[in-house]
Amino acid sequence: RKNVVIAIDGYSSCGKSTLAKALAKQLGFIYIDSGAMYRAVTLFFIRNQVDVNDEAAVKDALQHIELNFHSRDYESHILLNGEEVSDEIRQMPVSERVSEVSANKLVRHDMVKQQQRMGKSKNIVMDGRDIGTAVFEDAQVKFFMTADPKIRAERRFKELQSKGDTVTTLEDVFENLAHRDYADTTRAESPLTRADDAIILDNTELTQEEQLAFALEKVQPFL
Ligand code: C5P
Repeated sequence: RKNVVIAIDGYSSCGKSTLAKALAKQLGFIYIDSGAMYRAVTLFFIRNQVDVNDEAAVKDALQHIELNFHSRDYESHILLNGEEVSDEIRQMPVSERVSEVSANKLVRHDMVKQQQRMGKSKNIVMDGRDIGTAVFEDAQVKFFMTADPKIRAERRFKELQSKGDTVTTLEDVFENLAHRDYADTTRAESPLTRADDAIILDNTELTQEEQLAFALEKVQPFL
């Protein structure tokens, strides 16, 4: 491929999007948050009481979902049928359901198709769970990120608090991350796993600057 694709996969809340945004900004690439797509679909399913086990209902719902990104300063903003839902999709009701919805084959096929289209001709950084293993197996650079689960929960908890969430406890966040990691790694359809050619990045003890420097060094040969 002529365009450069950087794939970042890994466990929940281990800084994938932070690194992806920093890389995109530094390199002038487009950042695509694939998790936001699964979250937006989940929000639609919750609002419209779509039963994820009802194949016809899922098919019908997917036909009524249009997702769009608009990128401001490499912060990714996602629109669900024209409505800005970037904040709502990060809240607990969606986090609690997203792994169930994203395990659905029809949902995944639809999302993967859209993601592949977005990366067809442009230089992109995409983060998620199956980017290096399924969406872009031919990505030039793949990272597999991980970090200590306690640190991850603390980071996500602080993020929720800074957005005004006063009900969710650190315990709730820890449980949700553990649940999603389990569901995401054990599902039948493209489970979360490290691609053979992915570079492992454990950022438990790394600053954001150190992670960016590490990643840039790996990407450099492909620029
Ligand atoms: O990246 P984020 O934590 O926002 O993703 C939310 C959920 O979406 C994940 O826990 C996973 O269930 C699902 N997901 C996925 N494949 C991706 C990205 C996200 O299944 N490429």
